[in-house]
Amino acid sequence: MRRAPACAASVLTALAVLGCGGGSPDVSSPGQTQNPPVVAADTTPLRVYASHHNLLIGAAIDRGFRLTGTDGSTFRSIMSKQFGILTPENDMKFDHLHPARDTYRFVSADSLVTFAESNGMRVRGHNLVWHSQLPAWVTSGTWTTTDAQQLMVDHITNVVSHYRGHVMEWDVVNEALADDGSLRPGFWADHIGRSYVEAAFRAARAADPTVGLFYNDYNIEGLGPKSDSVYAMVKDFLSRGVPITGVGFESHFVLNGVPSTLAANIARFAALGVKVHITELDVRIQAPTTPAALQTQAQNYRDVVSACTSSPACDVLVMWGFTDKDSWIPGTFPGWGDALIYDSLYQPKPAYTAIQSLLSS
Ligand code: XIL
Repeated sequence: MRRAPACAASVLTALAVLGCGGGSPDVSSPGQTQNPPVVAADTTPLRVYASHHNLLIGAAIDRGFRLTGTDGSTFRSIMSKQFGILTPENDMKFDHLHPARDTYRFVSADSLVTFAESNGMRVRGHNLVWHSQLPAWVTSGTWTTTDAQQLMVDHITNVVSHYRGHVMEWDVVNEALADDGSLRPGFWADHIGRSYVEAAFRAARAADPTVGLFYNDYNIEGLGPKSDSVYAMVKDFLSRGVPITGVGFESHFVLNGVPSTLAANIARFAALGVKVHITELDVRIQAPTTPAALQTQAQNYRDVVSACTSSPACDVLVMWGFTDKDSWIPGTFPGWGDALIYDSLYQPKPAYTAIQSLLSS
């Protein structure tokens, strides 16, 4: 795809109108002395404070981006002002990008990349190879091992090449392991076997010599059998020259479910010389949400950001959305919700303030 102009140069383009953020409004009112002074909320965006820690903070983006009217403009303006990186929540998945064997459909994912580039944001590519969100032409087709290998490599090569220079890093393989650390069954494992994982990394590197290459999974945030298995895999890849840049800890937590070993786990991967990125953070609350639960949630968010900033290897932290109006949680975990840092009316929650005050110190 063609590179979009930088934010400052694109103020006249339609996309820049969607939000060319980064600044903060002036909260002082010179000359007005009749009102008692109030303590203004800190309007400095998260991305600014995060940059003081060498951290890119971001959010996944999906339906909200395309809303019309005030909702849409509020969504895009918060997104571009607050965050320095975005992840397409669905638009870069196999079923969205590759609707038929020889057909690729990049237009909606491209619009997110253009929005990011118009607003000085980076992009995480999510994802190349996953057992889920595969189109029916793949899952109901008949494939030999060689066919499936070719299909996987073709997909990776085309997608990574299309976004070369525009995507900072890819989740190359997503969720390949079961909770006990063994290979998780699914289309790629069933047709190719365990070797698909390293073949995917090699194909991604062949298509882009510099992009970051990540293994991304859930339930690997703390020490345990599944993260041990990822750790062994990364060590093995490094020893055999299989290209890998880092590990994505999805971090879909339940309230009070942040593992106490998160920082230690980040540290052991960092000691191998790979990055650890927090890729899909949210903290879900069981209904009904109470003020006390929101305070606990704020502490949970603070703990995750603090564990991340404790290691130079953790220099990207992405939340799985930013507003409770547009989160995958209620649809996937009935009875749970309110997992993000802005409420459904786009107002910052205690979790926002907790992250902001941690990063500003
Ligand atoms: C989820 C999206 O948020 C939903 O909109 C979609 O219907 C299903 O996928 N792990 C991942 C993400 O790696 O891709 C998933 O995203 C959430 C779990």
